[in-house]
Amino acid sequence: MKMNFIKVKDYNALSVHAAEIICAQVNSKPNSVLGLATGSTPIGAYEQIREMYKRGEVDFSAVKTINLDEYVGLSPENAQSYRYFMNNQLFNGINIAKENTHLPDGMSNTVDDECARYERLIDSLGPIDLQLLGIGNNGHIGFNEPGDFFIKECHCTQLAAKTIEANSRFFDTIDEVPKKAITVGMGTVMAAKKVLLIAAGKEKAEIINKALTGKITPQVPASILQFHADLTVVVSP
Ligand code: GLP
Repeated sequence: MKMNFIKVKDYNALSVHAAEIICAQVNSKPNSVLGLATGSTPIGAYEQIREMYKRGEVDFSAVKTINLDEYVGLSPENAQSYRYFMNNQLFNGINIAKENTHLPDGMSNTVDDECARYERLIDSLGPIDLQLLGIGNNGHIGFNEPGDFFIKECHCTQLAAKTIEANSRFFDTIDEVPKKAITVGMGTVMAAKKVLLIAAGKEKAEIINKALTGKITPQVPASILQFHADLTVVVSP
């Protein structure tokens, strides 16, 4: 079990460090499968990756990506959807073919079928070479919310009240925050060859500490990462 814990001085340093790890992965294996995350934490890293691409330091033409999650009911055109986020924050700024980028379809009429399709897709592309993760205030990963058990496969989940409240900052009103999301399961995250967890700000310090040094429990979903064989954690104040 290898846990590499890196504390950097600020958010910019965290973003540079994360971007360098991701680009080094692509440079060492040009057809890498990257597991990608949304949320505010990776925005800086995605910006750094776009810069590294512009400087000719990395080539995404053979890369495939699998995102962690998507809100149920938001279309790719909706500015709060994770597809929209990924296109804007990363995909439109690098040379990745859109057909090589994957997110669950939040507009599917048959959510269970969509979860099964996404799980099959992960099976066919995976295992993920490098999985990027943020962490929710309640310890969630993707949208694997605290619960009585870990869920292995892609599933539809009811968002925790705390998550809806935290994510309402991106919406005009809290009522607009979707109540459900499709997320990859913890089996996908744990099967990734390498995991890179990033967290910024003092509000994340407590949950990071609890997840990485506390009891391994589905009540703190990120705690299962203590079992991962190749985990890098980069944190900033
Ligand atoms: C969201 C995402 C997670 C993300 C988390 C933290 O709900 N589904 O993948 O890690 O929230 O977000 P932030 O980085 O904005 O704190």
